[in-house]
Amino acid sequence: MTMHLERLAVAHLESVAALEEAGQVHPWRRATLAQALADDTLEVWGAWRDAVLLGYAVLAWLPFEAELQAITVVPHARRQGVAGMLLAHLVTRSRQGGAERLLLEVRESNAPALALYRRYGFSEDGRRRGYYPPVEARGSEREAAVLMSVSLQARAVD
Ligand SMILES: CC(C)(COP(=O)(O)OP(=O)(O)OC[C@H]1O[C@@H](n2cnc3c(N)ncnc32)[C@H](O)[C@@H]1OP(=O)(O)O)[C@@H](O)C(=O)NCCC(=O)NCCS
Repeated sequence: MTMHLERLAVAHLESVAALEEAGQVHPWRRATLAQALADDTLEVWGAWRDAVLLGYAVLAWLPFEAELQAITVVPHARRQGVAGMLLAHLVTRSRQGGAERLLLEVRESNAPALALYRRYGFSEDGRRRGYYPPVEARGSEREAAVLMSVSLQARAVD
């Protein structure tokens, strides 16, 4: 069966919470997910196959830009294009909604996510030191965020 994307709502909380728990080192808390699903300034999109939620992503609308706040794919479905499908869709939504750029931040050690974002045209704008808590509760240091964005405006032709 083919994969399809669907805008998620509060009714999908159980599926999203299970996915987040399975797919993230620091999962969003249930209450945070519930708020995100109910928030009109956010769009939460899910990628489904055979009625199973394989991945989801959260897009936030800012005054002139949009921000990717989360993207997670369940471990057993990785490297099958799930995140790519979600990200391509959110880039299109952001452009259609008039955003000048789509922004995100990512742990500097998160090689899969960095590769994904570069593949979809994002480039680095800078780093924010000590932004993320350690991956392990003990024994490691806070980690820098890599700030990335992709421009969504058509370039003028010379
Ligand atoms: C990062 C993540 C969302 C990628 O999801 P995915 O569905 O596996 O990604 P895709 O299959 O769509 O990959 C698209 C491209 O991204 C790059 N990529 C994705 N995972 C990669 C990996 N582990 N190593 C290297 N490149 C990778 C590749 O260029 C890939 O294209 P290819 O498979 O044709 O080579 C997934 O690994 C995940 O959920 N990680 C945990 C949560 C997380 O870190 N989210 C990001 C927080 S900022």
